[in-house]
Amino acid sequence: MLTKEQVLNLLNPIKDPFLHKTFEETGGVEEITIKEEKKHVSVKLAIGKTNTAEQMQLQQEVVNVLKREGAVTVGLRFSQLPDEIIQKFQPASEKDTSLLSGDSGTNFIAVASGKGGVGKSTVTVNLAVALARLGKKVGIIDADIYGFSVPDMMGVEKRPSLKGNRIVPVERFGVKVISMGFFVEDNSPVIWRGPRLGKMLTSFFKEVEWGDLDYLLLDLPPGTGDVALDVHNMIPSSKEIIVTTPHPTAAFVAARAGQMALTTDHEILGVVENMSYFESKVTGEKEYVFGKGGGNKLAEALQTKVLGHLSLQQPYEEEDVFAPSVYQEDHPNGKEYRKLAAKVVEKFEE
Ligand SMILES: Nc1ncnc2c1ncn2[C@@H]1O[C@H](COP(=O)(O)OP(=O)(O)OP(=O)(O)O)[C@@H](O)[C@H]1O
Ligand SMILES: [Mg+2]
Repeated sequence: MLTKEQVLNLLNPIKDPFLHKTFEETGGVEEITIKEEKKHVSVKLAIGKTNTAEQMQLQQEVVNVLKREGAVTVGLRFSQLPDEIIQKFQPASEKDTSLLSGDSGTNFIAVASGKGGVGKSTVTVNLAVALARLGKKVGIIDADIYGFSVPDMMGVEKRPSLKGNRIVPVERFGVKVISMGFFVEDNSPVIWRGPRLGKMLTSFFKEVEWGDLDYLLLDLPPGTGDVALDVHNMIPSSKEIIVTTPHPTAAFVAARAGQMALTTDHEILGVVENMSYFESKVTGEKEYVFGKGGGNKLAEALQTKVLGHLSLQQPYEEEDVFAPSVYQEDHPNGKEYRKLAAKVVEKFEE
């Protein structure tokens, strides 16, 4: 008849169906009792997840092994492994790899403005691409749930796929992207409010398979509304870039967004002045079509610096690459974004 030691040796190499680790590794064989006279072996096993179809299969396997080795009857009881052990061995896809967990090592950058249409989304997209060109692992959450524009700007035509129950973001120019735009049919408007909205944003963090990210950029909707507040609350460690145009009024309005960042204790990385000037291709002359000095004025008000000035210019047209708002590396704005990205990296790594 089997001894306890033999039983243990038979069970140890079997794998926990949920954790895919052997019982030897998980320490899941909790108890073995043997009744010599009845050739009865009774075993208590702790596993990663109880009452599943996999448990039934495991049960069958254990009974077969023990009977083959001489047991006439087998009694089995299952319990759940302690949480620490489950966490230790949990397969990566099941783990809470949530970016919000705090120890993800990801740097968060929220791109905000007071006014709409000043170029937040353009800045988000191009800063992300520039960071990726510097070799960083980068993601974008298009947090403008109603007014999503990132997929169109980057020319993303694919949709996210599912891996298990997790959403795999779409990658473009080395940047992982998630946007409400991926989940809306036919470009129809999104009319969610309040809680539903917050939930969507949480899902973008928790249900998306981001993998390792160095930087996650958030393209915020204009102004200081719900979403901006949600983001502030959700990611206390997020730093901010405030986008403005050179017009003094725009800077004045943008100061409100900056003020909100400050009152919610979010560090401001700096100001980006977009549409700063128009440079004539013919004469090389700069024309300050939207006025001058807005960026500096804003930076002063927020006690920070202007990190970059982008000219008023479209990306070059390319025949084979469709990405209406992504500046090429050799484009003047592409170069300026590269400098901006380098400054941002320096700020985080200093
Ligand atoms: N430097 C630039 N030169 C030329 N066009 C630009 C520049 N920056 C942005 N644009 C254009 O201006 C428009 C508004 O830009 P964008 O959508 O990035 O602003 P936004 O602040 O995100 O707007 P919203 O508040 O609606 O989210 C877009 O059509 C964009 O292509
Ligand atoms: Mg936008």
